[in-house]
Amino acid sequence: MEKAKPRVVPAAELEKQREFAALLCEVLPERFDGAPRAFVRTFGCQGNEADSERIRGQLELCGFSFSKSPEEADFVLYNTCAVRGHAEDRALGNIGRLKQLRENREAMRIGICGCMVQQESVAQKLREQYPFIDLVFGTHAVHRLPELLYRLYTNEKRVYAVANSPGLLAEGLPLRRESGFKAWLPIMYGCDNFCTYCVVPLVRGRERSRAPEAVLAEARAILDSGAKEITLLGQNVNSYRAESADGSPWDFPRLLQALDALEGDYWLRFMTSHPKDCSPALLKTMANGRHIARHLHLPLQSGDDRVLREMHRGYTAAQYLSLAEQARALMPALSMTSDIIVGFPGETEEEFRKTLRLVERVEYTSLFTFIYSPREGTQAARMDDPVSHAEKVRRFQELTALQEKIAARRSAELLEQTLRVLCEGAGKRLAFAGRSESGKVIEFDAAAPRIGQFVRVKVTAAKNWLLDGAAVDD
Ligand code: 5AD
Ligand code: SF4
Repeated sequence: MEKAKPRVVPAAELEKQREFAALLCEVLPERFDGAPRAFVRTFGCQGNEADSERIRGQLELCGFSFSKSPEEADFVLYNTCAVRGHAEDRALGNIGRLKQLRENREAMRIGICGCMVQQESVAQKLREQYPFIDLVFGTHAVHRLPELLYRLYTNEKRVYAVANSPGLLAEGLPLRRESGFKAWLPIMYGCDNFCTYCVVPLVRGRERSRAPEAVLAEARAILDSGAKEITLLGQNVNSYRAESADGSPWDFPRLLQALDALEGDYWLRFMTSHPKDCSPALLKTMANGRHIARHLHLPLQSGDDRVLREMHRGYTAAQYLSLAEQARALMPALSMTSDIIVGFPGETEEEFRKTLRLVERVEYTSLFTFIYSPREGTQAARMDDPVSHAEKVRRFQELTALQEKIAARRSAELLEQTLRVLCEGAGKRLAFAGRSESGKVIEFDAAAPRIGQFVRVKVTAAKNWLLDGAAVDD
């Protein structure tokens, strides 16, 4: 389907923001006797992590340095999530704890941004009940951070930027990555699917894809910096549609092929892939890829057709299963993971059992399981929901127990095998921890420090989902 070209933040606007940043570089050191320190904490998904990297980049441009805790910071910013009530409660609890810090430190300022504040009712609540919060901005105002900070530090008043918007594309923002060897790479923003339970389309705006040239240039820069893993991000990467400068159309498989052709030793991952648009072309691209990890995160949400229809998912359980079978036929070692919601309004016991049966058939490596959480403004929040919370908790526990058994069985199959692992840091039980191509965490001993490198690890123990191993090539 053709999509209208996304609206891009004009170059003049970005230039204006750079001017605000330059002004802040003059104003702030005088006030703080040197560079003020910022602390940015991220709640929610990898999309939010990626936003925080652009937020930190802009803070750096404005003359901030960074602290390791809110206690040591002059400016604390929480980038929040709205996907479930629990995510909001956690953020609000953490925000509440900042009040005391702010009271004890005259110069301290507090900001809240992200998906949660993009909801009108939450922005209103923060305005009325959280007077100690100085700056509030939504997902659509990230590129305007220098201007918002300038207003905050020169006018001393609370600054709010939470206007609704279909969303823009802001290219060329400065960026400060958290990891030197793993990089998030957003390829598209927003979501047009309007699953009936989901707040994301309401807080992140309409789907818009970055130009292939911009994605490829960023990927090249990431690899040149020595990174070993790139994860492409989008609410629905399969909806990626863009045009290159020569007018030629790009979809997700084409983008993935072009990225896979880049030279280097690295893994390419992507998330999230919506089953309704997961095409044979994508599976073929994965199977033929040189760098594409054989791991597919394909959210099922429910294994029952009535529930899937009510969720507005656009596929049936049989179609999902057939997709999973096609994928495994092409890539026998494919690792699949999924998201599942338990207790969608009106879900019956029999409908829940269908989810269990599908989970058993697909044999996921791991599952992200959630109890349905009503979100203001969504269709599902207005549906009748006769099932008690206690019953939903019981179903949730049954599902997680089943998945644990499956994960233990799958882990046991890995015993004695040698896996390629990207070493991510120190382990809790053994010297190092890393992830295999399938996304499984494994701890291992090795003679030399290997953080940020690929290591061949022989699996020596497999208990439940925990894997232990030893490096074999040193
Ligand atoms: N309640 C529970 N889980 C939800 N998710 C999204 N919205 C809700 C909600 N209202 C889950 C879905 C999605 C994942 C990111 O979060 O499973 O795939
Ligand atoms: Fe990510 Fe959705 Fe949470 Fe926003 S609401 S941070 S898009 S999971």
